[in-house]
Amino acid sequence: MLLKEIAPKHLFFILLLLVTSNTNAFSALPNNAVHLSQYHNRRVITTIRMTRAKQSSSSGTKSASKNTTKMKSNNVRWAIRGIAGEILHNVFLRQISRARKYLGTSKQQRLEEAKKVRLPIKNETALITGATGGIGSKMAHELAFRGYDVIIAARNADLGKDLVLDIQRELENSSSSTIKGTKQTPNISFMEYHADIHLSALDVASKLAVLNETKPLTVLINNAGIMGKAEQLSMKVNLLGPVTLTLALLPLMMKNCNDDKKNVKIINVSSSAHLRATGVFDEEDLRSSSKSLMNIFPDTKDEDLSTYAKSKLALLQFSTLLRHKLPKDNKIQVFDAHPGLVWTPLLRNHIGDKATNTLQKTGLASLIYKSPTEGSRALLAALDHPAGTSEEQLYFVNGQPGGFASPESRDLQQSQQLLDRLIAPELEGIVELPDGW
Ligand SMILES: NC(=O)c1ccc[n+]([C@@H]2O[C@H](COP(=O)([O-])OP(=O)(O)OC[C@H]3O[C@@H](n4cnc5c(N)ncnc54)[C@H](OP(=O)(O)O)[C@@H]3O)[C@@H](O)[C@H]2O)c1
Repeated sequence: MLLKEIAPKHLFFILLLLVTSNTNAFSALPNNAVHLSQYHNRRVITTIRMTRAKQSSSSGTKSASKNTTKMKSNNVRWAIRGIAGEILHNVFLRQISRARKYLGTSKQQRLEEAKKVRLPIKNETALITGATGGIGSKMAHELAFRGYDVIIAARNADLGKDLVLDIQRELENSSSSTIKGTKQTPNISFMEYHADIHLSALDVASKLAVLNETKPLTVLINNAGIMGKAEQLSMKVNLLGPVTLTLALLPLMMKNCNDDKKNVKIINVSSSAHLRATGVFDEEDLRSSSKSLMNIFPDTKDEDLSTYAKSKLALLQFSTLLRHKLPKDNKIQVFDAHPGLVWTPLLRNHIGDKATNTLQKTGLASLIYKSPTEGSRALLAALDHPAGTSEEQLYFVNGQPGGFASPESRDLQQSQQLLDRLIAPELEGIVELPDGW
């Protein structure tokens, strides 16, 4: 009964069995039916968009069949290096490390550790987008306890202001017992931010220019994201929003590196789902004469989550560009981070109420998924990373550097095409690209 209820929505168990017993299992699937939807989804397999390939000429057909083969192998890559790795991590490694910690500490030590330790204030500001969400709100708490002034950039003012009060309350309750040498608490504030509206990023940047005088901005976390919504909206929220905000704040962050000799960090929240995408566009899209390729993403629902995968690949490509284009002597570190599978509204909305309730009731949710706090720590691990490490080390997966990012995400040519064909035309007249881009 339980299996019957969970299985259709939780394909990844079946997927995992397939992967571990026979990695060629995917080749048994029909050619045009290999898009396994993200995480544990919808009805088993959704049909990939083959219409364009069918309409094309013979050379187009060849390239379409090449694309299909690549899509298949990318799905296998994602199933093994993404999903299977994450389940292994969450179900086994995480539990082993919990058990070891439990056995290795006394009850008194555990009680001490459970108390939240607040670090002295830093006189630096961290801005986090989508901070009212599952992982984001926990990151905001963590950053405050690390001593940062925190700006909660979110679109829902009521939720944002409630979160400010919540963090302030927690800080005050913790201060007398934990803080040494100072009674000051960091400042927590809310700024309205809509990732799908360019001007909203400019508004945030102009407000920050004022605040930056006293507490320089040293951490930017592009966390806001959506999954399984309209395709074009997904590209706006998951790609154009973070790009616009980052470019609008870049002059300020570069100044903070130079004048105040601070280490500035940008964390772009990614996903292992990017491993499914073969590219953000295909060759035929690139031959299109339209100025911006944004119109290849329609307003229809991203049923098979292929646009989610592309948006996360595109964000990784933007990080790649940033690393290559920022002046070599700058001290801005650009990280990508994937939190792993985390039990948040983003996932719950996707799997639906029935599967959510079953997973919760049976305790499987906490076995398979990280909590939002664990997810937030996995992302913030990047903040503790020493400056000046190699590009491969800058992708954090499950809190560890050196995660597996797809070669496409580090492809400079593809990244430049993304900038030229999608980002630059969309941002024209809104935010200037730095010299030499
Ligand atoms: N959960 C996972 O397993 C998982 C795995 C890999 C990657 N991620 C990534 O982690 C990030 C956080 O996800 P989550 O799981 O914490 O999801 P979540 O709970 O749904 O939070 C997403 C946040 O993004 C905000 N947001 C959505 N559209 C926005 C817009 N147009 N403008 C401004 N903010 C907007 C949401 O605001 P509202 O509350 O107002 O809707 C919410 O605060 C996302 O980038 C996601 O892709 C999550």
